[in-house]
Amino acid sequence: MEVRPYNLAMHTDCLVIEGLAGKKSLKGTVQINGAKNAVLKAMAASVLFSDEMVIANAPDTEDVKKLAHLLRLAGAEVAVDAAKKEIRINASTITSTDLDHETTKAMRGSVMLTGPLLARFGKVSFNVPGGCVIGARPIDLYVDAYKKLGAKVSVSGDHYSIDGALSGAEVFFALQTVGGTETMMMAAVLAKGMTVLKNCAMEPEIVSLAEFLVQCGAKISGIGTPTMTIYGGGLLKAGGKKYHTIPDRIEAGSFLLLGALCADDLLIEQCNPLHLESVTSALRNAGVALMIGKDSIHIKGNVKTKWADVSSFSVRTHEYPGFPTDLQPQMVAFLTHTTGEGIMFETIFEGRFKYVQDLVRMGAEITEMNPREVLVRGFGGEAVSGNTAGGQKMLLALGADEPLRAHDIRAGFAIVMAALAAKGTSVIQNAYYIDRGYERLEERLAALGATIRREK
Ligand code: EPU
Repeated sequence: MEVRPYNLAMHTDCLVIEGLAGKKSLKGTVQINGAKNAVLKAMAASVLFSDEMVIANAPDTEDVKKLAHLLRLAGAEVAVDAAKKEIRINASTITSTDLDHETTKAMRGSVMLTGPLLARFGKVSFNVPGGCVIGARPIDLYVDAYKKLGAKVSVSGDHYSIDGALSGAEVFFALQTVGGTETMMMAAVLAKGMTVLKNCAMEPEIVSLAEFLVQCGAKISGIGTPTMTIYGGGLLKAGGKKYHTIPDRIEAGSFLLLGALCADDLLIEQCNPLHLESVTSALRNAGVALMIGKDSIHIKGNVKTKWADVSSFSVRTHEYPGFPTDLQPQMVAFLTHTTGEGIMFETIFEGRFKYVQDLVRMGAEITEMNPREVLVRGFGGEAVSGNTAGGQKMLLALGADEPLRAHDIRAGFAIVMAALAAKGTSVIQNAYYIDRGYERLEERLAALGATIRREK
């Protein structure tokens, strides 16, 4: 089968955003897409199936396109219907377990494919990307687990070759790793005998994948707890069952924090508020009024809430159900406006504060205490003399001569939030990163009343 080329080069688009000059004037409804970090794992899980696996509610993001490309290069039949939000994958046609080097280098998430491929075909080889923008992101926990399951791992530079028929074993993860838990869970589904995974991550995306695999014949117990027990067996059979991608809790949380910062009235639909309690409880405690439904969150009449009445607070990122690292930059952008001081402590990744320099250039009052911790002093609706923007302290836009950057997906959203809150026109480079996680962001923001455009 001929695989059409996929352009791996990062495009050079910028986003140009007119700031709302501190007014909370966005208004409307936003619908949340399927979770990026769930759909990628479901796509990798297709390798465990003897028949076609269908994924519903799939978002149309760059990472999904890249993983589809990688699967096709391995020989899988992948049909992506963006209009129907559906992906169909038939992995029975896979002929290569040597993952395309360029694509794996460009996408850390591709490491998840190694578990199902190794378990099904007894071998896999791939190149891991080095460090990435948010931290070193090693794969030592994957390698240790593969060795425990009986595989032989050889490494040459950044090229890994892993061989061997997998047998069940006990694996204790030294850190709660999302990708590691998912990858080993998938590998264990085809390994011989019983595998016990301990200190597992418990993110909703892991739970939803595990539940689907069980529906298709996998024997997994302890789902959603730190210890999962898996009895390996033959290939799974979907038999027409579809994996329904759960709502993207990080996308919903991003819009929620944007709404708290810049919207008068924002209805966030098709989300699961139970997955966002760490965020909604922090916002409510600070004084932001939220109406929480079964699958919606409504920020209503926010324009009446004065910043002086919204208190600052401190946050430590934590594995689920704690506060997600993937909402850390967006929360810092929000805290630039609250009243008082708050500390953001990043416990998961060691390099996730690069965007802070951009916020500071815009006038945010943030001090980097150490690589893991920043102190944010909120403006709190404070008046400043000589300021033409309504006498309030606010972020100031940065244009083409000193542009802002999307350092990674989530930092990119935080900078969009800051640009929307600011006074003046901002230019944000590297929109590519934002596209990796947020589908058609500028269209959706424009529908809420933002003035935003994309430029090459
Ligand atoms: N870690 C190791 N060794 C390993 C694996 C992980 O030291 O072998 C460390 C990492 O360096 C990190 C910590 O363990 O410090 C947790 O990393 P984890 O493995 O949980 O992260 P991941 O699976 O690579 C996923 C999401 C990230 C999200 C993290 C944490 C996907 C595709 N990615 O990454 O999402 O930040 O879990 O929740 O699911 C994003 O969406 O913007 C994003 C970065």
